[in-house]
Amino acid sequence: MELRNISKGFPGVIANRDISMSVERGTIHAIVGENGAGKSTLMKTLYGLHRPDSGTVAVHGQVVDFRSPSDAIEAGIGMVHQHFMLADNLTVLENIILGAEPAKAGVINAREAGRKIAELAKSLGVEIDVNSPVAELGVGQRQRVEILKVLYRGAKTLILDEPTAVLVPQEVDELFDNLRRLVAAGTTVLFISHKLDEVLAVSNRITVIRQGTTVGTVTPAEVTRRQLAEMMVGSDLPQPAPRTTQVREQVRLEVKNLTVARVGQRDLVRDVSLAVRSGEILGVAGVEGNGQFELCSALLGREHSTGTVAIDGNDVSRASVRERMNAGLAYVPFDRQREGLMLTSSLWENNLLGQEEKFTKFGFVNVGAARAACRTVIKRFGVLTPSEEVPAFALSGGNQQKLVVGRTMSMNPAVLLAAHPTRGIDVGAQAAVWEEVRQARDAGLAVLLVSADLDELLGLSDRVIVMFEGAIVAELLPREATPELLGTYMTGAKVGS
Ligand SMILES: Nc1ncnc2c1ncn2[C@@H]1O[C@H](COP(=O)(O)OP(=O)(O)OP(=O)(O)O)[C@@H](O)[C@H]1O
Ligand SMILES: [Mg+2]
Repeated sequence: MELRNISKGFPGVIANRDISMSVERGTIHAIVGENGAGKSTLMKTLYGLHRPDSGTVAVHGQVVDFRSPSDAIEAGIGMVHQHFMLADNLTVLENIILGAEPAKAGVINAREAGRKIAELAKSLGVEIDVNSPVAELGVGQRQRVEILKVLYRGAKTLILDEPTAVLVPQEVDELFDNLRRLVAAGTTVLFISHKLDEVLAVSNRITVIRQGTTVGTVTPAEVTRRQLAEMMVGSDLPQPAPRTTQVREQVRLEVKNLTVARVGQRDLVRDVSLAVRSGEILGVAGVEGNGQFELCSALLGREHSTGTVAIDGNDVSRASVRERMNAGLAYVPFDRQREGLMLTSSLWENNLLGQEEKFTKFGFVNVGAARAACRTVIKRFGVLTPSEEVPAFALSGGNQQKLVVGRTMSMNPAVLLAAHPTRGIDVGAQAAVWEEVRQARDAGLAVLLVSADLDELLGLSDRVIVMFEGAIVAELLPREATPELLGTYMTGAKVGS
């Protein structure tokens, strides 16, 4: 595949500027670059979602002109997006065949489709029950469904936009095994990632994009992680700050015997007790789907639970979501698009979410103050945008995340529930977000940090707990928590500490 001199602009932004690159068949080709560098835009062009303003795409030496994704699919190119696009209320089978049903005389042959999917799943090396509703699947499984959906349409080139952002290390390994199988059988994989270690481990070639244009293509053997990062940002990276601890006596979040039950299922959260002190970051490790989400939902008051929750000594077990927020609780959600943003609203309106009261007087929003507050967040967290007036969908994925984190931090909470706070954020900006969290912690914030990124979890936390099947199965200090040891607890191979 060859991209020649591709340019693409949006109002006020040039997302891609004269990009040329070629991708060899049967290879894994990674695309890296800072948030907003233009990676997703380039891949969407390749997938027929955007038409380039200028430049051409050639597949097997033939210049193509995709007017829509169906043209790209016709040419054997499929894409799994940064934000998944499955229909929750349908089954795996229905999702996969949606829009591509093998219909005979208008009748869908579900059995034949099921057989074909089973075959594809085998070639990918995964197991999946095609009849389960997508709503019941964890993130890793959803992703497999997305990949199967693309393969089902006959894709020979698979584009994956940040496939590993949502996965824990074990799932990442599985995904890469799956991809290697596909590539060995002649499929080409293009993937975007901010995790440079895995990029170096899995790719055949790596193309770096900076500010809308390519700065080079390298092989993993030629560069170190640091050199790759410096190619991305175009300058030296700051050295990480030395570890310090500021944990104080005062307990800010206290949870006792919290259980979230589900009729006919095992408890989603099982008898969890924990305390987070002022100046402390408590890390929560675990494979997604082991109760972390329900624990946060229960702490927020969005999920019915038994047991008690206290913030700064005040029992909020029966308090509403709003009352808990007013007591000092703030939340960086698991899924920025589902829980954190109104995609078609402006950035400043999005920045108001959860703090409307602060900007409202006599029933009127002080728009000037709300805009100014948003500009402050944009500046402090380096959100790349032409202004606070643009709709949230116009931000790149990582910049959406920065806005959500920035909004939450700017509320000056007493207790922060942070779920994957730097998910999709590039290495440079990630260091900046970590620094913000450290500073707030040092000033007395208590943080419950759920993260799939072990560097983040071990680098930030003062203590780490592991959740498995809804219960806390281990508590460790970061220095004793090697990735291997955490892995054994996370998969339930070892219980108790
Ligand atoms: N639909 C859109 N409307 C307006 N601007 C857009 C749109 N999509 C992308 N942009 C802008 O184009 C630029 C490149 O965005 P893109 O999503 O390609 O970045 P990215 O490299 O994928 O970043 P990230 O790592 O954060 O996902 C950004 O400035 C973004 O705000
Ligand atoms: Mg992107």
